[in-house]
Amino acid sequence: MDRREQGAGGLPGIGELAARHGVKWSEHGPGVLPAWIADMDFPVARPIRDALAAAVERSDLGYPPGQDHAAVREAFSDRARQRYGLDIPPDRVVLTTDVLQGLYQSVLTLTAPGDGVLVQTPIYPPFLAAVAETGRRLVEHPLVPGTGPGGGYGIDMEGLEAVCRTDHPRALLLCNPHNPTGRSFTEPELVALAELACRHDLVVVADEIHADVVLEGPGHRSIGGLDPEVGERTVTLNSTSKAFSIAGAACAVAAFGSARLADRFASVPDHARGAVSGLGLLATLAAWRDGDPWLVATLERLRVNRDVVVTAVADRMPGVVGTVQQATYLAWLDCRAAGLGDDPAAFFLERAGVALSPGPSFGVPGRGFARLNFATTPEVLAGILDRMAEALAARSPG
Ligand SMILES: Cc1ncc(COP(=O)(O)O)c(C=O)c1O
Repeated sequence: MDRREQGAGGLPGIGELAARHGVKWSEHGPGVLPAWIADMDFPVARPIRDALAAAVERSDLGYPPGQDHAAVREAFSDRARQRYGLDIPPDRVVLTTDVLQGLYQSVLTLTAPGDGVLVQTPIYPPFLAAVAETGRRLVEHPLVPGTGPGGGYGIDMEGLEAVCRTDHPRALLLCNPHNPTGRSFTEPELVALAELACRHDLVVVADEIHADVVLEGPGHRSIGGLDPEVGERTVTLNSTSKAFSIAGAACAVAAFGSARLADRFASVPDHARGAVSGLGLLATLAAWRDGDPWLVATLERLRVNRDVVVTAVADRMPGVVGTVQQATYLAWLDCRAAGLGDDPAAFFLERAGVALSPGPSFGVPGRGFARLNFATTPEVLAGILDRMAEALAARSPG
């Protein structure tokens, strides 16, 4: 590699990142710094790279053996028990090509057309699409800014109870840790949600894809592991794609707390869903078995980056308010007081050459907000924040 392209501390330089084929860097072309889709810019963990490189070098790209499927199911079962307090045997872990496939298939098989599906907004946009595109009824309940631990978003449990009584949802699509608010829900919050689910007979579809990206607090806790009553009505979705940033490897899991749910999910035949790729299985196994030292170091980088964003927003972006993310590498920026309209990401793309995710795509409470992915090198992050601050400063008054 050209030494000028090599960033500090073994991290890729901007030139190397800009040459990447992935959508994050290729979508907007040269001149734009990408801080949108949830991929990280750090080198992938060495055990994952070695496993993939070895398979390619052996020309070993045929159909994967059943033992690899079994090993991933077992690795998740072990990891969930040890790290998230979720005890699901390997034979109730199903492989899906990605978490969204698990989410869509859960909605399709565990609810019926016209059923209400409860979603806490603002929310990762495919949650809204999964309800709309399957002909279910959106039951939206907003999280409340400033009422959660550390001034983050909180859950209005009384409001949620009322909405369950009036709108009779059949399922809760829970995103924990929550994208985009960065909340890692506490055990008391999860207990309250679990009790609500049991009281109103809701199926819980828990997207826990950011479980390993908890930056503060005691770590991730799965709602499905709280007690058997909520467990048997919960499907937990997870993968290595966010924490290890290998979304292109496409391999995920859906773990069922009861045979009843697993059987309903299996009403879509395996071949109608397509097969998990052999490389995805190898990458996932390497991540879950041998990737944790890399993960620990990466979480440390993310904490530093998060704090850099918080400081820059507070000191150099008048009218923009951030929260301190407890989890994920996605900062949720409230730009309403900056006067940038409903979609501040459009302003920053045009005037700053920075690509953020548009707040309105996260639902109505996302109007006036933008999401910033801070999982990048210090050099790129400084460029992103400088450009944003300069674009705000350069606006003509009024
Ligand atoms: C909460 C959440 N769920 C699902 C996904 C997508 O995961 P996958 O690529 O495995 O479908 C993302 C991606 O950012 C996400 O943030």
